[in-house]
Amino acid sequence: MNQYDKTFSSNTGQLGANHGQQSPRQVAVKVITNILLQQGSLSTQLARHQLDVASEHTPMLKELCFGVCRQFPRLNSIALHLLAHPFEEKDTDLYAVLLLGLYQLTYMNTPDHAAVNETVEACRILKKDWATKLMNAVLRRYQREADDIVEILEAQPSVEFNMPKWLVKRFNKHWPEHLEAIIDASNTHPPMCIRINESLVSRETYKTQLADLGIDSEEGEFSESALYLRNAVRVGELPGFDAGYVSVQDEAAQLSAHILSPKNGEKVLDACAAPGGKTGHLLEKANASGLSSMELTAVELESWRMEKIESNLARLGYSANVICADASDLKAWWDGEYFDKILLDVPCTATGVIRRNPDIKINRKPADIDELVIIQREIIKQVWTTLKQGGFLLYATCSLMPEENEQQIQHFLANQSDAKEVALNSLAPSLVTEWGIPVSHGRQLFPTANGHDGFYYCLLQKA
Ligand SMILES: C[S@@+](CC[C@H](N)C(=O)[O-])C[C@H]1O[C@@H](n2cnc3c(N)ncnc32)[C@H](O)[C@@H]1O
Repeated sequence: MNQYDKTFSSNTGQLGANHGQQSPRQVAVKVITNILLQQGSLSTQLARHQLDVASEHTPMLKELCFGVCRQFPRLNSIALHLLAHPFEEKDTDLYAVLLLGLYQLTYMNTPDHAAVNETVEACRILKKDWATKLMNAVLRRYQREADDIVEILEAQPSVEFNMPKWLVKRFNKHWPEHLEAIIDASNTHPPMCIRINESLVSRETYKTQLADLGIDSEEGEFSESALYLRNAVRVGELPGFDAGYVSVQDEAAQLSAHILSPKNGEKVLDACAAPGGKTGHLLEKANASGLSSMELTAVELESWRMEKIESNLARLGYSANVICADASDLKAWWDGEYFDKILLDVPCTATGVIRRNPDIKINRKPADIDELVIIQREIIKQVWTTLKQGGFLLYATCSLMPEENEQQIQHFLANQSDAKEVALNSLAPSLVTEWGIPVSHGRQLFPTANGHDGFYYCLLQKA
């Protein structure tokens, strides 16, 4: 329990005893504080605290938390401009309160007086009454001078692009012609894309079933299993969701299983598997190719994410050899039997999916790139050993950083004489591969406003 959680529980009793009883605003303060203190990602914080509000308040909680993260570069500049002195670290909770107040005033329909009153009240709930006057004054000033303040700050790249300055610089350095499109797409709400389980139903039939229920959808251009929903719905409204007919998955992510195209009798490894979206798709794909006897091993480092893989597979009605281990520590998990195909969806900066993980705008640092490159380098080097001769390894990231993508592969090929790059449709000749752009090795996809996420793929074969 961190300092904020302690403060909060001492004010309101045991956290567990408050399930469903706290206001979305109180819980949002807790979530944003923890993100600011680098205590975990938005998704882990929400998973941890979502049950603290009643279920009818979950959408409001998500709107506040996603909204503050999405607008963080702007809100942060405004807040720092308004404060004579930044808050000390022990008062990070007050900073979260301020960001939430500014978010409500700027982006939500909350009446101004209610937003200000709630923000001031939040200081009292935190037992920091000393801050009520300050908070009141700061927000009232913002109400009066918002247009002028925004005009002054608009000259800062982080405010103009609503993106951390270092990320704008990197995107501009690597992809100058795509900068605007990347920023625009990264700042939008992603569309809802679903994956049809082709072993159970065709995309056309499922599209008709959706239409009968009044749910409009459109086929994805690149993934034959993808449908975009015109309006997002709850998964429970998707026919056959519980029976595994359909899953929620971005179109670019769906390409993994189509590229690897696993078949009957093959032994396949999903080396960085959680939450198991692609694990399930690999099994669906093999089943669609006939009665499956594909043997799938899924390795994942984080023990707390294992349950998610299992529950995803259980819903789809499949099983796999799911192992909790570091994929680069072969002694810990490999039985010495070679794999025909490997999916290596490595941990990465996730800079192609900022719109789904907007806390990246707060937490991601330039140094993360170098650290991740080293981890990825070790995983691919070790996992390559487990691939049989003539076998295929698909390297994938949801990153836009060349260091993690084409440069990583460049380094690997330069040091691994039995590895060669092959065309992305080598295993699925009918697969359209005109997505994204070709780079020195593999293809780079950029996030598109109403379409797929940012991704990178390169297919390798062992000589
Ligand atoms: C990009 S995500 C994988 C997403 C997954 N393939 C899917 O489609 O649902 C990367 C995963 O790799 C895991 N991971 C990180 N380092 C690892 C390692 N050394 N060995 C195995 N898994 C690792 C992370 O915990 C994370 O769950």
